[in-house]
Amino acid sequence: MSSAAQTQADDLMQKIVSLCKRRGFVFQSSEIYGGLKSAYDYGPLGVELKRNLMNEWWRDMVHGRDNVVGLDASIIMHPNVWRASGHAAGFADPLVDCLVSKERFRADKAPRPKPGDALPITCADQGVAKTWAEIIEKRFGITLEREGRVLNGLYCVNSSKFVYCPKSIPVEKALLYAQQVTEIGGSWNPGGQENPVHYFPFRGYVGPTFGSPFLSEERQFNLMFRTALGAVDPMNEVATHLAALTAAPDLATAVTERFGKDAQEGALAVALASGDRAKILRAAIEQITSPAMAYLRPETAQAMFVQFKNILDSSGQKVPFGIAQMGKSFRNEITVEHFIFRSCEFEQMEMEFFCEPGTQKEWMAYWKEQRMAWWKRYANDPSKFQFRQHAADEMAHYADDCYDVEYAYPWGWGELEGIASRTDYDLSQHEKHSGQKLRYTDQEKEDPATGKKPWQYLPYVIEPAAGATRAMLVYLIDAYHEEERRTATGEIEKRTVLKLHPRLAPIKVAILPLVKKDGMPEKAQELAAAFRKAGILAKCDEKASIGKRYAKHDEIGTPWCITIDGQTMQDGTVTLRDRDTTEQVRISMDQAVASVRERLS
Ligand code: GAP
Repeated sequence: MSSAAQTQADDLMQKIVSLCKRRGFVFQSSEIYGGLKSAYDYGPLGVELKRNLMNEWWRDMVHGRDNVVGLDASIIMHPNVWRASGHAAGFADPLVDCLVSKERFRADKAPRPKPGDALPITCADQGVAKTWAEIIEKRFGITLEREGRVLNGLYCVNSSKFVYCPKSIPVEKALLYAQQVTEIGGSWNPGGQENPVHYFPFRGYVGPTFGSPFLSEERQFNLMFRTALGAVDPMNEVATHLAALTAAPDLATAVTERFGKDAQEGALAVALASGDRAKILRAAIEQITSPAMAYLRPETAQAMFVQFKNILDSSGQKVPFGIAQMGKSFRNEITVEHFIFRSCEFEQMEMEFFCEPGTQKEWMAYWKEQRMAWWKRYANDPSKFQFRQHAADEMAHYADDCYDVEYAYPWGWGELEGIASRTDYDLSQHEKHSGQKLRYTDQEKEDPATGKKPWQYLPYVIEPAAGATRAMLVYLIDAYHEEERRTATGEIEKRTVLKLHPRLAPIKVAILPLVKKDGMPEKAQELAAAFRKAGILAKCDEKASIGKRYAKHDEIGTPWCITIDGQTMQDGTVTLRDRDTTEQVRISMDQAVASVRERLS
């Protein structure tokens, strides 16, 4: 992205974040205490928008279909669910620290330069550049060239080496020589230069913010939030055991005696074999606390696999059918970014569609079409949605196909929903770990292996998994418009308008008495009551001039404003103003509810 496009993108996001706070859509969590960067609170308008969006999804996915049923499962599930699903072991991101800037980031998301590329380190300002150049000189023995806030002189050789090449030596020569040296970490000093060429081990990527290639080893980081269940505080247990273990003359012997058979296998055995005291203590703490440990769910999906048999037996559904769930998920994300795009606490809308093995391709095609149509239905600009098929090396090991629904965010294309063909992996894992049979019996079909009825099999699964809070951001971006119009008096008027789809809009109708007298406020209340009775969210608004009230409701996305004026008091008619066109029509007040209802449907 060019720097002009970047500035424009930042500017748009800033405007949206500011509107969200000013108008009560989204607030930083715990703001009066300095705020939590990783969590957000949805204010009076935000909660309506989020609920409307999630209700539309539910209406389409569950109420709109005979073969999909709903579930509302607990957030804390049996810890074995996460062992079976692979989340406890594998739900981890490779995490890296920059040794110079201390930036911490995900290795799999970091920029990967090509051989021959320069690796400039771009610091926050010139002062920081000076400090970092000194750190690099002291720690790595090289003097980078400072140009303003940029440190130059580093080049990518290949995915395992980078080179420091001073200005006095041609870069091509240094790169060519670097191809030939097998040993990493050495230097080359043609003609006895003051600053010789140096070779460094490279991780294949650089820090995303500053571009530094001086990085730590990768560490795995579990994204699940842990909590403890039970009446006994596991910290007391830890303290009691650690007091005894650390007082023992030999830690390894004490741990081996204390944990018996458990010390001979798993993480504890590995730690004991390493002889590293810190690792042994860490593994011992895990062992002590593990019986009480529970996790906040990192996705809503697993409950739908775990309850597959109960729902099958109680709902009368037959394969193919789906189970849908929406609600909170929690991930201890290393990088929280772009406002509510990625946060630690967020909401998902997921559906597991169970189908006969061998039919997954056709169901994938069906759900892809359905989901894309759903996203576009509520958008002003449908061209900003696209599919991206996962490459084989990107796909989870159990998936046989996967597509992302992507949106053109101000910072570029990014994921909004994943549609995965998950094979029978999850059901087979839960069958294995729980010891319960989760097979489906089709009495009408012959088992392809034996040629005899019935056919008992583990269904395959297509999973459309969308983020609800991320979807809210997408529709806010899609809806945000700044416009200039010529008024009746010929002046140019600027307005900000959220062109939210009326079904998503937090408030459907604003009822505005022209003045706060002559019975108009009472008439407005009367009409608002009629809307409430019809289940349509209407709000009376009598503060400020009529123009300011229109502007406010344009900015919060209210699709229609109804004005009660002098004529209303005489002939019972009102004006109905359309947010997007600003056109007004005069209708009978008696017809107002029916008229809005029709426009909403
Ligand atoms: N069960 C599959 C699953 O959870 P995912 O791609 O990890 O798949 C699905 O998540 C969707 O949930 C994503 O496409 C995204 O919209 C949303 N999502 C995931 N992590 C998120 C986060 N930290 N903050 C906000 N939304 C997130």
